[in-house]
Amino acid sequence: MHKSKKVPLAKGVYMALKTTIITGATSGIGQETALALAAQGHALYLLVRNILKGEQLKQQIADKTGNKEVFVINCDLADLQSVRDAADELSKKLFAINTLINNAGGIFEERQINKNGFEMTFVTNYLGHFLLTQNLMPLLQKGQARIINVSSEAHKMGKPQFDDLQWSQSYSAFKAYGMNKLFSIYFAQSLAEKFADKGILAFSLHPGVVKTEFGAGLKGLGKILMLLASPFMISAEQGAETTVFLATAPRLDKYNGAYFKKKKKAKTSAIATDTPSRNKLWDISEKLLSRYLVWPSV
Ligand SMILES: NC(=O)c1ccc[n+]([C@@H]2O[C@H](COP(=O)([O-])OP(=O)(O)OC[C@H]3O[C@@H](n4cnc5c(N)ncnc54)[C@H](OP(=O)(O)O)[C@@H]3O)[C@@H](O)[C@H]2O)c1
Repeated sequence: MHKSKKVPLAKGVYMALKTTIITGATSGIGQETALALAAQGHALYLLVRNILKGEQLKQQIADKTGNKEVFVINCDLADLQSVRDAADELSKKLFAINTLINNAGGIFEERQINKNGFEMTFVTNYLGHFLLTQNLMPLLQKGQARIINVSSEAHKMGKPQFDDLQWSQSYSAFKAYGMNKLFSIYFAQSLAEKFADKGILAFSLHPGVVKTEFGAGLKGLGKILMLLASPFMISAEQGAETTVFLATAPRLDKYNGAYFKKKKKAKTSAIATDTPSRNKLWDISEKLLSRYLVWPSV
């Protein structure tokens, strides 16, 4: 069990290391977030689906920042058993978690179904993170954690399509992506509401339009849109700034549940403030995940 560690600042003065879990750190925004937080002394747990990429990043972090408190854990968000196993492993290793960054995500040109029977946009961007967060909840509470969901302005294209969350009638990559980024905003709001009295803060954010591997698999119109946006894209380092801000800035309590852009509280779509939809999503998520959830609902 890794108890909270302490680093010497000066003789006799110690600062506890923050323990931070991050998904999707093997590329783009997540990679820059991991590097920035490692440079600030966070102990990092990289939850990755590609162990080789995770180990390479661990080495890169050690080379660039000198921080060797970096650990690689297997976690494929599109495989719910893998998510549960990762949470179990962390629960055995750690006493508490101070930051959870639900960053991994993607958009899928064609409709795909994962091995648990869920549509890939839904499980990768939202449902896998719901399971991870819920199964880590005792550790998150012990660490008075901040939970940070990387959402997107694309949520403004999204509607909660509860009658067909799996897009089995007709599939649109952008609509499915928009809906699931809306869900990550709902999720942060619900976490803030349900767990504020346990010391949890939860946020969602838009990182900007960022030059990363995001959308690399798109074809046709999607590819053209990405190419058109390309000259206006910010760097992954700039794209990580709002996540790093939410992970490190003091006194964010009054913003609990809020959506951020450019390190500032920002306006969501009107539908993202719809409490009945948000509550409905929570109930559905718990039902869909009942085989994998470890802790009872609140
Ligand atoms: N780029 C933008 O303009 C933009 C705008 C708004 C929001 N976002 C959001 O920002 C977040 C980061 O995206 P990015 O732009 O940095 O894209 P990226 O370069 O494609 O990085 C995506 C990360 O997610 C990981 N990932 C994907 N599927 C996974 C799975 N099933 N299990 C575990 N990890 C998985 C990838 O792992 P591998 O390395 O193994 O592929 C990679 O580390 C996403 O949530 C995205 O929706 C991006």
